[in-house]
Amino acid sequence: MATEEQMYRPNFHFTPKKGWMNDPNGMFYLNGTYHLFFQHTPFQSVPDFSKMHWGHAISNDLIKWEELTPAIAYDEKGAIFSGSAVVDKDNTSGFGDGKNVPIVAIFTYHDMKKEQAGAIDAQSQAIAYSLDNGKTWTKYSNNPVLKNPGIKDFRDPKVFWDAKREQWVMGLAAQDRQHFYGSKNLKDWTFLSEFGKDVGGHGGVWECPDLFPIKVAGTDEEKWVLIVNINPGGSNGGSAAQYFVGDFDGKKFEMDPLFTKQLQKEKVAWLDMGRDNYASVSFDNVPDNKRVIIGWMSNWDYAQQVPTNQWRGSTTIARELKLIKKEDHYSLISTPVSELEKYTSKSIKKKKIRANENITLVKDNKIDLTKAVINLNLKNLEAETYTFVLSNKEGESLTFGINNSDHYLFLDRTKSGKNNFSEKFASTITKAILDANQKEASFKIILDKTSIEIFFNNGEKVITEIFFNSSPFTKLDVVSKGKIEIEDLEINQLNI
Ligand code: FRU
Repeated sequence: MATEEQMYRPNFHFTPKKGWMNDPNGMFYLNGTYHLFFQHTPFQSVPDFSKMHWGHAISNDLIKWEELTPAIAYDEKGAIFSGSAVVDKDNTSGFGDGKNVPIVAIFTYHDMKKEQAGAIDAQSQAIAYSLDNGKTWTKYSNNPVLKNPGIKDFRDPKVFWDAKREQWVMGLAAQDRQHFYGSKNLKDWTFLSEFGKDVGGHGGVWECPDLFPIKVAGTDEEKWVLIVNINPGGSNGGSAAQYFVGDFDGKKFEMDPLFTKQLQKEKVAWLDMGRDNYASVSFDNVPDNKRVIIGWMSNWDYAQQVPTNQWRGSTTIARELKLIKKEDHYSLISTPVSELEKYTSKSIKKKKIRANENITLVKDNKIDLTKAVINLNLKNLEAETYTFVLSNKEGESLTFGINNSDHYLFLDRTKSGKNNFSEKFASTITKAILDANQKEASFKIILDKTSIEIFFNNGEKVITEIFFNSSPFTKLDVVSKGKIEIEDLEINQLNI
């Protein structure tokens, strides 16, 4: 019998060696190193919300991570919930010692005792600083820096430097909306504005926001994107990330008129249609103005029941965001960071494939499908459906593809392996609506041992999901009720 470790531990997505993880926190880049912190209960594989830590891992390429000892631990003021970190280059906080750049973490204190006693104000915002690149942290003596104004869910501060206004801005999730605060020193915060009470998804509590400027691809036009995670009420149930496109004037975020129109039709703009990309937020201080995000690859619907014990939870692959503007709408598109490509050890390439009703793309262990990236274009979409089937010798399968008559993308993991640990997991068939006139489609598919990330049409639609098969998938077929035309097939083996 293969152990849980052998069956389920991802090959290249970050997981803690031991214990529980959820949201990515406080991610930043400095001097060649990317830092990932994360919600962590190190001593058990289910969360202890009264003893949450920030775990810590580092990487020089966003792909291979090295876990360090937990960075920030809970204390008598509460558990350390989600938040962000900034590189305070000008020492605005005064925490610097003249030699080292202070990194300042801004997080939520969650006081469980207070909450259990029925208090509404158990969550407040606090800071800590590091003078050794995030290894060790000192909590500020005057915490909290932002008290709770009487809102039960008041958390997940994401701070950035607003260069135009020379101020720090904090976005904070306040139950069913977003709050913004401003500060000159990261210690004293004043309320700026709120956003979102009447727009976007409201099927659950707003969590883990992220506001940032981004250029419209191919132009010099700058827009602001606000990501807001929500749980439950996500795109396909449970937790998911939505976004808004607009402008920020140093005080207020307002939606762009085009985006407002778009939302009237779409209701919610989702970052990922899959079930397993939550609490996605971006890194601070990445060179070349790149906007890089990482999410937690799970869903509160079943995260605490997934069949691993030594550890629970992993991250998505790091993704770069781009904003595209078309005639009648904006799309925030995600593509895996290019650093992944350097791990390609061999490729099978085929320029053109023509088949009737079915074709096998991988079999006989020619490619290890537990660490692979597959790129292809489907041309002349005329058949009703195109279904990709990943299967193993146990008869388990994960299917995904295009329903061309009803215009949606789908992923079905109901037969993909172990799923009896949660009804919400077992029933997952994910759908994403597509344009009616889709005549061709491109896919980039990232496969790890227990996850699939599908980037459709260069990242315009994304589906990220986990699964728990009893042995690796070894075969990949495409099945259709008509002609299959594939071009530019590339099956890349990763050496990782
Ligand atoms: C999101 C979240 C955050 C909170 C953290 C607690 O997944 O609920 O809102 O800070 O997890 O672990």
